[in-house]
Amino acid sequence: MITKDSRILVTGFKGQLGYDCVRELKERGYTNVLGIDIEDLDITDEQAVHKFINDYKPNVVMHNAAWTAVDKAEQMPDAVYKVNSLGPKYIAEACKEVDATMFYISTDYVFEGKGDKAYEVDDPKVGLSVYGKTKSQGEDFVRQAIDKYFIIRISWVFGINGKNFIKTMLSLAERGLKELNVVCDQIGSPTYTYDLSKLMCDMMVTDKYGIYHTTNEGFCSWAEFASYIFKVAGIDMKVNPVTTEEYKKLVPNQADRPLNSRMSKSSLDKAGFNRLPSWQDATERYIKQLIIHYNSVDASLYLLPLIKKNSINTLELKMLNQFVSYNSFCDFVKCGINNLGNILKEVYTSYNEKDQIISLEYTLQGE
Ligand SMILES: NC(=O)c1ccc[n+]([C@@H]2O[C@H](COP(=O)([O-])OP(=O)(O)OC[C@H]3O[C@@H](n4cnc5c(N)ncnc54)[C@H](OP(=O)(O)O)[C@@H]3O)[C@@H](O)[C@H]2O)c1
Repeated sequence: MITKDSRILVTGFKGQLGYDCVRELKERGYTNVLGIDIEDLDITDEQAVHKFINDYKPNVVMHNAAWTAVDKAEQMPDAVYKVNSLGPKYIAEACKEVDATMFYISTDYVFEGKGDKAYEVDDPKVGLSVYGKTKSQGEDFVRQAIDKYFIIRISWVFGINGKNFIKTMLSLAERGLKELNVVCDQIGSPTYTYDLSKLMCDMMVTDKYGIYHTTNEGFCSWAEFASYIFKVAGIDMKVNPVTTEEYKKLVPNQADRPLNSRMSKSSLDKAGFNRLPSWQDATERYIKQLIIHYNSVDASLYLLPLIKKNSINTLELKMLNQFVSYNSFCDFVKCGINNLGNILKEVYTSYNEKDQIISLEYTLQGE
């Protein structure tokens, strides 16, 4: 039985999903959560994997680490096989030794990606591209090694910690582009790691092992996804829909990608797990999260030197020119204070709207 004291090991901590798994587990009150990345354990080193897992003795391993650069994978199939197939094999075998449950995160690329029917979990796998083939072999190794596994297939992933399609679209707009060509004949579902990490935590406390498709709800093309991102972010961008064939001529040397990434959620429904919210809802929440995240980083960079220079623990902040309203300046300062929680212990804030000044009185951690 999994309790709040159970030991939970999360690989790929510096990536998108691993980061959110650790955050969600800690938010749920799990006290023994260990997030690791390649510096702590290279999953292609068989001996090191066995030693690490036998020493730590986790009750659950959320294995998120992978080679995720799909195009680059085509040039380095052996290296990718080690990370995406052998790595999970070693982890699964070590999980068997310590009787741990294992999550293995897989992908829509295990399917051929043709037609327009949503793939069921037990449909035949083909393994599209080096990435898809190696992830599919990883699934097979996990299933051969242990019974207590959750294999969850996702697609078009986005999270606060790492690179993804939404960040790419927004940064192209920031660079001043007004028009973009985006593929319109690949259909799939985006997956928000914040939502997925919650589902994984729900699954972890059950013994409903098996294979699941766990993307956000609904289907769209990349072009529809891009248009929605710009709409939510309030950016004026012309999205030109292009076919995969047309796009390959514009950007050659790409790995094959599935045209049909629709995945059925019937195994999730049968097991009684909740489906994730719609991809539109997830995109809206994610873009808000991004804005707060970047605001709070900027705001803490503004506040930190003022706090460091100060010996009397009070500050008067005059509204900065770049803000359109006093309210948005207040939000900015609040974000900065939240982000500096490891430095600031107690903060008392008073607002003088007439003179557009925020006053802070604070004590520092350790004072
Ligand atoms: N991203 C997607 O669109 C997508 C779609 C479908 C399925 N998935 C699957 O979902 C999972 C999570 O994806 P993600 O986007 O969160 O991944 P991510 O952001 O790329 O993070 C993966 C992490 O794994 C680490 N890693 C790579 N090689 C390693 C090794 N040999 N030993 C230990 N750690 C290693 C990476 O480190 P470095 O950065 O230093 O290499 C990175 O920190 C993966 O299993 C992926 O295959 C992702």
